[in-house]
This record gives sequence, C-alpha cells and structure tokens, in this order.
Amino acid sequence: MSKLTAAITGVGYYTPPDILSNADLEKMVETNHEWIVSRTGIEERRILKGEGKATSFMGAEAVEQLLEKTGTDPLEVDLIICGTVTADMIFPDTANQIAYKTGCKNAFGFDINAACSGFLFSINTGAQFIETGKYKKVIIVGADMMSSIVDYEDRATCILFGDAAGAVMLEPNEEGLGIQDSVLRADGVGVQYLNMKAGGSLIPASHESVDAKLHFAYQEGRTVFKYAVKGMVSATQDLLTQNEMKPNQVDWIIPHQANLRILESVAHMMDFPIEKVLINIAKYGNTTSATIPLCMGENEKKFKKGDNVVLTAFGGGFTWGSTLLKWAYDPK
Ligand code: UT7
Repeated sequence: MSKLTAAITGVGYYTPPDILSNADLEKMVETNHEWIVSRTGIEERRILKGEGKATSFMGAEAVEQLLEKTGTDPLEVDLIICGTVTADMIFPDTANQIAYKTGCKNAFGFDINAACSGFLFSINTGAQFIETGKYKKVIIVGADMMSSIVDYEDRATCILFGDAAGAVMLEPNEEGLGIQDSVLRADGVGVQYLNMKAGGSLIPASHESVDAKLHFAYQEGRTVFKYAVKGMVSATQDLLTQNEMKPNQVDWIIPHQANLRILESVAHMMDFPIEKVLINIAKYGNTTSATIPLCMGENEKKFKKGDNVVLTAFGGGFTWGSTLLKWAYDPK
C-alpha cells in the first residue's frame, strides 16, 4: 500500500469589511503613509467590528466558505485545529467554537498558539492525523483578531496588524501529493522581544496590569526583523537541502506577511525571483495566524496540480519554520 500524504484539497478565507487605512492611522498616532509604506509595505488593514464578533466568527466564516467550495457535509469533518493568539476566551478553545458555529458536530478540535507560525505548526500537526490513516477530513484554521490586543496609541505596533481568517481542508492522498516535509523550530529567547505580558498565569489581569498596558502586544521590531529574516532563510535552506532541491525548483513561496522588506530580503537571500513570492501585505497588514491561508486563498487560481509550494513563517516565541508541499489539485 502506498504511503498516505496529507494534501490540501480546498482553501477558504474571510476578511472583515471595515478598512483601517494609513490615512486613518495618521489621525490616531504620529505617523504618516509614506513612513508606513516604505518601512512595511502596508497600505491598509481590516478590522473586525460588531457586538459579539471575535476570532471564532472569522474562523467560522472561512470554514463555511471552505465547506461550500469543497462540497463537504459538516458532519464529515473529523478534526478542526485553529492557530491563533487571540482566542475568543482563554478557554474554551476557539476551534471548539468554530466547530459549533459551522455544524461540525462530529469533529473534535483544539487551538495551537505559536504566534505568527500558528498556521504552519497547525497544518503540520493536522497532517499527522491524516498520515496515520485514522482521519479523513481535517480542517486547519488560521485566525486572529489582532485589533483586540493592539494598542492604538503605540505607533510602533498599531500600524502593523489587522484581522482575518483562513482555512484549508486536509485529506489523504495516495499520489504522493500534499505535504512532503517540514523544518519547524522554536527558541524561547524570543519572549523578551515579542509578547503580550498579562492575562496569563504569570501576570493575571488586575487594575495594575491594565493601567500598565500589559494586555497589548509588545514588539521590539528591529530585533525581531533580524531574527525573522535569518529564521525563514535558514529553515527554507535546510528544507530544500534535505529534499535535494534547488530554489529554481520551487514554483511558489507563501510566506507569513509581517513586513514587505522581510519578504524581499528572504527572496533575495534565497535567490527566489520576487514574482514567485506571493504577497498581499499591502491590503491586510500582519494578520498573524491568518496570513498564509489568506494569501493562499487569494492566489489559489495560480496553482497547478504538482506545483512545489513552500510555506514559511516566523513569529513570537520565537517560532519559525518552512513546509514543502506539492499542490494537489487544479483549482476550478
Ligand atoms: O509577525 C511576527 C514577526 N514580526 C516581524 O517580523 C516584524 C519585524 N519588525 C518590523 O517589521 C520593523 O522593525 C518595524 C516595521 C516594526 C519597524 O521598522 P524599523 O525600520 O525597524 O523601524 P525602527 O523600529 O528601527 O524605528 C525607526 C524610527 C524610530 O525613530 P528614531 O528612533 O530613529 O528617531 C521610530 O521611533 O522610526 C520611528 N517610528 C515611526 N515613525 C513613523 C516607529 N514607528 C513609526 C511610525 N511612524 N509608525
């Protein structure tokens, strides 16, 4: 019997309709459109608004679209894994709420918190459940409502982040398509440079923690930038080396979208033509766990069955890695 691989068989995504432009931010903090575009490549981002709407709302919208596109009955879904750092609540998990909202009554689920590598770590986790042969339909969601943890008085972070969700279906494949290999890494040294300090067990919520703004995302941008370029390049190089591939054999790179300059540096250092690097940061900013499935969904029509696609991400923790997959279908 041939080895089962886990293949992506569909992509769905959701972006909220409300736009926060650079011009809007100019009215909120001391910044300007030119600085933001030249330093990050971001022109606007989406913000989720509405009573009772949070990360699971966006995740559920993305999953609904995915179920419709793939013609899947929600009752067939075995498992939902949600990469997120902005769970609706500390518990229960967001995957659980997404399953509930989408009628995936037979699915179990859980969240993975790996910051901007959340989708990458989640898809690799989900693939294991397929490769054992035990599960047939596993949905991987990347969803984040970053606007809920961004300080809109801190110009160093509020210009970067936005809200979105994306979802892919993983199914068993016997033609050798789908996920081929991955290099996944983590280094706790990153905690000091990128974090949200309060609300966990170290600093539970208190009046003091709120007054000190410890419930917002904190980032030492310049340091994270350097680690991000190094991490994505080294993981991708290791991945290609262990699969005896040259950069010119890669058809598409779908990177986590944190900063256009990071993506340009990675492309340059890896000798990837920039046209192969899929980029949509101008419209959405950094949507943390959602960037890769959102970018994949927007570019789905470009992919052909058999294309070599590399996913790569870097985020808080630090966490980072790269995954090689063979695209498994010709999009309709
Ligand atoms: O997704 C998870 C991983 N995250 C990342 O990969 C993000 C990595 N970091 C970055 O993308 C960049 O470091 C930032 C976009 C966050 C910042 O860009 P930078 O080129 O590293 O700027 P900087 O922090 O070195 O700041 C340069 C200057 C500073 O002024 P001085 O000290 O040189 O006078 C900042 O105060 O730019 C100033 N500055 C701003 N000016 C206008 C910082 N934010 C702004 C702003 N508007 N919004």
